[in-house]
Amino acid sequence: MKQAVIANTGCPWGQQLHFYETVDSTNTQAKVLAKAGAPHGTVLLSAGQTGGRGRMGRQFVSPPGMGVYLSVVLRPQCPPAQLMHLTCAAAVAMCDAVEAVTGFRPGLKWINDLVGNGRKIGGILTELSVDTATGLTEYAVIGIGINCCQQLQDFPPELQTLAGSLAMVTGQPVSIAVLAGAMIDSLYRMSQELFDKASLLCRYRRDCITLGKQVVIHGQDGPIQGLATAVSEDGELCVTLPDGATVTVSSGEVSVRGLYGYI
Ligand code: BTN
Repeated sequence: MKQAVIANTGCPWGQQLHFYETVDSTNTQAKVLAKAGAPHGTVLLSAGQTGGRGRMGRQFVSPPGMGVYLSVVLRPQCPPAQLMHLTCAAAVAMCDAVEAVTGFRPGLKWINDLVGNGRKIGGILTELSVDTATGLTEYAVIGIGINCCQQLQDFPPELQTLAGSLAMVTGQPVSIAVLAGAMIDSLYRMSQELFDKASLLCRYRRDCITLGKQVVIHGQDGPIQGLATAVSEDGELCVTLPDGATVTVSSGEVSVRGLYGYI
């Protein structure tokens, strides 16, 4: 670990930044630091990850020098039920950061995928630990990976129909250091307005490209098809089924696919 070189934005969280040339997963390492007492706003950034993780046990391919792989430790003093919208809030913050740096605003595929030109360009993995004695959140870790520099041939063959990068979308090189700085700034601002749920969810819905689409929900009871109609105040997806019934799904339970592919 060493001090990172990122764009100096004056954000207070830059003071507590741990940089790794390589690490298994910044989220895994953030949880280790959080358990050892790392303060609110501790940021971990790695040039590459050997075991980058995504939702539902998936891998997040994280080749060195190709993207931003970043985690932040939060210590909100509240029950975990008040943080159901945390992934949505982080997702909007990442759209703000990417737009500020590149001029391009990603779409959000519910719940945690950043999308550009119909391809996944990034993802967010939020993990919470609860203090069983108090029932309050001990810490939350928000991990974000954004593909910056890859061209199609840089992705493993099995991802080549699905994955993209900011360079592919914008046709321009993207500075990992500048984007990392903007992401930290944006996460800091998000943390200050975290409990303004109505405003955060309103912004999430504007960016969410899943709304209004036919989707297939892959959950424990097999695939269900329906129309994605709303995102609740807790970040759940409301889907109207062909018989008119509405189901509400939370991110822990399901993955969502478009009718004909990824979105
Ligand atoms: C997903 O696509 O489901 C979420 C991907 C999250 C990847 C980021 S990269 C930084 C942090 N460390 C990890 O192991 N995962 C997150």
